[in-house]
Amino acid sequence: MRLRLAGAVLLSAAAYYVYLPLPSGVCEPWKLMLLDALFRSFMKASDVAHALGMCHRVHLLNKVVSWVEVVEARSCSTVHVTDTQLGGVPTRVFQPKNGKKLKRGVLYFHGGGWALGSGRMRSYDHLCRKMAEDLDAVIMSVDYRLAPEAVFPDQYHDALAASRAFLSAEVLQRYSVDPERVCVSGDSAGGNLAAGVAQELGSDETLKVKFKAQALIYPVLQALDFYTPSYQQNQAVPILYRPIMARFWLQYLGADPSMEPILLANNHSSLDQLGVSATTRSKLNWTSLLPAERRKNFQPVFKDTGSPDVVAKVPALMDVRAAPLLAEQGTLGRTPKAYVMTCEFDVLRDDGLMYARRLQDAGVAVTSDHYEDGFHGCMVFAYLPMMSNVGWRSMNNYIHWLDRNL
Ligand SMILES: *[C@@H]1O[C@H](CO)[C@@H](O)[C@H](O)[C@H]1NC(C)=O
Ligand SMILES: *[C@@H]1O[C@H](CO)[C@@H](O)[C@H](O)[C@H]1NC(C)=O
Repeated sequence: MRLRLAGAVLLSAAAYYVYLPLPSGVCEPWKLMLLDALFRSFMKASDVAHALGMCHRVHLLNKVVSWVEVVEARSCSTVHVTDTQLGGVPTRVFQPKNGKKLKRGVLYFHGGGWALGSGRMRSYDHLCRKMAEDLDAVIMSVDYRLAPEAVFPDQYHDALAASRAFLSAEVLQRYSVDPERVCVSGDSAGGNLAAGVAQELGSDETLKVKFKAQALIYPVLQALDFYTPSYQQNQAVPILYRPIMARFWLQYLGADPSMEPILLANNHSSLDQLGVSATTRSKLNWTSLLPAERRKNFQPVFKDTGSPDVVAKVPALMDVRAAPLLAEQGTLGRTPKAYVMTCEFDVLRDDGLMYARRLQDAGVAVTSDHYEDGFHGCMVFAYLPMMSNVGWRSMNNYIHWLDRNL
């Protein structure tokens, strides 16, 4: 009897911890809640360790991730897997053992707020293996340096160095990759790096081989407006809460973490910030770039006065290499055809939707694939037993798009 009571108390405590009111329409809410409870526990533990001065919160998180999640390079009957370097950057390569002699190639950047994760994690290993098999393509998953040790532009430079090496005649030949059929891709912060690389290399006249496609999965693309409709609508939707994204940005840009409230108030892009021109504002003006059904009844939040000189103190906020949405139309027009995946229940939804629209306006062929029941991370983070229906659906559609367009 006492045991049963204790069990019931424990169970309801666990349910209370896990339960979170979610907006209706999220795919399989219980799976998302469980994933969120797991994330929250890790975040809390690392916050405590951080506060006690034991170690940086990111280090603890990455320790746990590499302990639980990172897997060895293990070949199977269909795919040969090796760890190597690409332009000096650690990279895992997935090569199909059979199939055509000359293969398609995809360069992939993992997500994790420029601070967490690895291309060698189980979830990415699974994704890249599946891509190699389904597409009969060579997939290279890049382990760029991470914050807080590395800050912008280190991650970007690693991504660029790996990309240039990937497109070199030597690497293409060594891995039997067709120079006419190569793609750059990534999710979340990795989508940010992929978009930045696509812009830089698209405008590089000296390159002999160019990417044929860019595939961006719920990418993060700007840090000037934390009140887009999707930031407003999804601020409390797991797993990427609004303050966490602001924290990731500050950490990536090497800025003082105490500026978080300034970003969350949009005080860094108030109308008195001289560093933010009208032209810049127009590139992320969602009242004109988003369709009415996404704007809903949300209102822009741009104050007349904010916190002075933030942009002067953190110039990287305005750097297109960090925020690809700020690119000129001409630059966008020189990037390859694009696939942009977005999720309704994601603070970054509008980053992706605005980018898709701006690419389209610049004359790029864009497939905008939006998931009404999707949430941030659904395609990769929540893998296998936790993988939701929308996770499988989006992964299959992503691979299908690559199959038809690469
Ligand atoms: C955004 O675009 C709308 C519609 O074109 C315009 O009325 C508004 O002034 C613009 N806002 C900013 C901040 O540029
Ligand atoms: C934002 O700017 C306003 C006006 O200058 C100021 O009153 C407010 O305290 C600022 N908020 C933050 C979080 O810095």
